[in-house]
Amino acid sequence: MSRQKIAAGNWKMHTTVTEGKEMISSLAKNDLPSDVTVIIAPPFTHLYPCLEVADSGIQLSAQNCSDKLSGAFTGEVSAAALADMGIKYVILGHSERREYFNESNELLKNKVDTVFGQGLTPIFCCGEPLEIRKSEQQVAYVRQQLMDSLWHLSSDQMAKIIIAYEPIWAIGTGETASPEQAQEMHQSIRSLIAEKFGEETSQIIPILYGGSVKGSNAKDIFGQRDVDGGLVGGASLKVDEFVTIIRSF
Ligand code: 13P
Repeated sequence: MSRQKIAAGNWKMHTTVTEGKEMISSLAKNDLPSDVTVIIAPPFTHLYPCLEVADSGIQLSAQNCSDKLSGAFTGEVSAAALADMGIKYVILGHSERREYFNESNELLKNKVDTVFGQGLTPIFCCGEPLEIRKSEQQVAYVRQQLMDSLWHLSSDQMAKIIIAYEPIWAIGTGETASPEQAQEMHQSIRSLIAEKFGEETSQIIPILYGGSVKGSNAKDIFGQRDVDGGLVGGASLKVDEFVTIIRSF
């Protein structure tokens, strides 16, 4: 079975709205492969202006949203507002949100439900810190993240999720997991999903790799059997390099 191929750019808190719109317009001018889903996750402020310039070949994602439906939660953004705007994806559980904003597996479980409740697709991030990798506990660590936040879902819901494996030691460090390390973890994640939700569901779910993906290493990483694309930080801010990454399948 061939799975969806995805190149997603997470801009984090970079760029102004003006710069973001220019980058989306310039990305849209390229002849992008029609069999690759291209997703850009700019800051919240950029979503609406970027939607206006993104052509149908570029999807937009939020980087986060509230677990609450609506209410007196100053500064939060609801999944309903995102869905109403025409946004299709929401990144959840990025390690920076887990680390700097204390997002727990339990909170993320609620966010996943809220996002599904609005018909949006979660891009659910998981991944281990360096000390866990050094002690070779990475599979158990990621299993716990998945169990706590996703194992309550129905198979139908699970089949709609996108998973991003982002080892924390490889994020923004220039250090990348080797293609073999990425494949090993992606295969483990897929078998954990198969054990819980069945083989068929596990074969549908795109599992993206994130952590210092660049134009120069994307081909080797995306070439692995269980790697279905990338969630790219720094290199997605350079349009030419991101185009190279999109063409690396
Ligand atoms: P870098 O590609 O900059 O390492 O960031 C990865 C990431 O965090 C994407 O979500």
